[in-house]
Amino acid sequence: MCGIVAYVGPRDAAPILLEGMQRLEYRGYDSAGVVVSNRGLKIRKVKGRVADLAKVVPARFKGTVGLGHTRWATHGVPSDVNAHPHLSADERIAVVHNGIIENAGELRAKLEADGVEFASETDTEVLAHLIAKAADENDTLEEAVRKTLKSVVGTYGIAVIDAERPGEVVVARNGSPIVLGIGEKEMFAASDVAAMVRYTRQVVHLEDGELAVLKADGFHTFASDARETAKEPLTVDWDAGHYDTGGYEHYLLKEISEQPETITRTMSGRLDERFHVAHLGGLNMDARETRSFRRVKIIGCGSAYYSGQIGAQLIEELARIPSDAEPASEFRYRNPVVDPDTLYVAISQSGETYDTLAAVQELKRKGGRVIGIVNAVGSAIAREVDGGIYLHAGPEVSVASTKAFTSTSLAFALLALHLGRVRDLSPADGRRIVEGLRRLPGQIEEILAQGDKIAELAQKYAKHPSMMFVGRVRGYPVAREGAQKLKEISYVHAEAYPASELKHGPLALIGPDMPTVAIVPDDELLDKNLTTLGEIRARGGQVLMVGHREPGAKLADDVIVVPKNEIELDPILLTIPLQLLAYYAAVALGRDVDKPRNLAKSVTVE
Ligand code: AGP
Repeated sequence: MCGIVAYVGPRDAAPILLEGMQRLEYRGYDSAGVVVSNRGLKIRKVKGRVADLAKVVPARFKGTVGLGHTRWATHGVPSDVNAHPHLSADERIAVVHNGIIENAGELRAKLEADGVEFASETDTEVLAHLIAKAADENDTLEEAVRKTLKSVVGTYGIAVIDAERPGEVVVARNGSPIVLGIGEKEMFAASDVAAMVRYTRQVVHLEDGELAVLKADGFHTFASDARETAKEPLTVDWDAGHYDTGGYEHYLLKEISEQPETITRTMSGRLDERFHVAHLGGLNMDARETRSFRRVKIIGCGSAYYSGQIGAQLIEELARIPSDAEPASEFRYRNPVVDPDTLYVAISQSGETYDTLAAVQELKRKGGRVIGIVNAVGSAIAREVDGGIYLHAGPEVSVASTKAFTSTSLAFALLALHLGRVRDLSPADGRRIVEGLRRLPGQIEEILAQGDKIAELAQKYAKHPSMMFVGRVRGYPVAREGAQKLKEISYVHAEAYPASELKHGPLALIGPDMPTVAIVPDDELLDKNLTTLGEIRARGGQVLMVGHREPGAKLADDVIVVPKNEIELDPILLTIPLQLLAYYAAVALGRDVDKPRNLAKSVTVE
């Protein structure tokens, strides 16, 4: 969490930093700060958003080198004082940091014993004091930073400036992303290209353990042992327009509405109509290896995990390989048995989620074969895995994941088709799935066209303090994702259960105050699901059914009918009304839709 941005060049740094920070606000938004160097360091920090910071930055806040930070608190409450940048006691060094310094307590105690007075409760402030001390003893800032980091345990992406060495920024990475942006006689660094894409699309990703020195006329990178490292700049695909709301009121609505295009991009060039297969060259696996796996284990966090549950069912149904999904945050802590015959699949939109990354690292350490389904190109997880599938869904800015969720589910359909067609999935079934996939974008358009109706239903149901979401088998992960979206952005309490489990306990909650959203696809479980609706209605519960047909007023108060596809692909379509329901509920309740309270988009802490 936390977004950092740095600039060095001929222009005024502050407006560039503030704009970059705004684009990184999805990473954390409880406080913000900016520093520029101009015959001493000038600093402003506030509890609140970047927009609040912009109000207190004076017009004469001049300086052509500077740092910005937008925070998601870990050590110390959100406050002006705890906001970054942090300064050394002599106000010579300024540091911004994303990550957690695990031995901050110990380092702080030593510094305090030496008489250093701390201004904040943060772990980051130790870095400012340590680098200042090292800067007195070393010839260059890079050397001071490199030596300081040797005593630091934890994760960091940091950027540092020194009032006595104006015209340079030193950055370092260990576990939290740092991207360098190469401009015309100017350099940028940030947690994400989003902060700099307006100025340059030429970027360099730092690896863990790498540092870089940025000056207006270029940069050099080096490892923690001071050896120079060689880097090839990449050109990013996205321009500034991809990070705008594009005329929508919120990023979330824009991202929901983009899904016909984003899932088209995810399947583009990957479907083969001749053999009814999916080409997934990024997996780096030949047919023999593709056939060799006996199990598939999927890991991810939050919504990524729920799309993994959809994926596990797709793989079992189409490839007949036993598959399951587990939260990466649990998997990594339970000393998992790593099996050479299992294909491990890590899912992450951001490619940065620390629990997922740590699980991948644990798997690799034990010799597991891990592929990734990732949206952010060049991200930590994408670089850690043995191969994978990029979503190509474009930047997802809103904290709640929508288009990445459907693209991930679609990527699983491609993977299931790929694994199935080297096994026993018949050409006829392969064709059925390929044709079904091709129909999805048009069907998503049909669901989006029901936006006004779903907005009305959201107004009606958001009045309740709590909602139940139920689904059976293919519908269950859809229900979980629906409940997740609703609670995340509207703060309406929502529970998700397998419909079959209701009678084993949660039915006690059902009554006039607890409506149920029931996922009822037209599949072999339709009758069972309709029975469940009857049981809910018999107990005075309201039912909003999301499915393929009207079941009659006896069974549901309201129905959202979605177009039917192949039963294996239906979960992708059934998810979309639930995204809209959550969105319109959040709007009706006046919530901060794109930046819900307490959350951040990239969860880079444990
Ligand atoms: C989704 O709406 C959530 N914001 C969250 O559960 C998210 O999916 C999770 O933190 C994983 O993120 P990732 O896909 O970037 O790894």
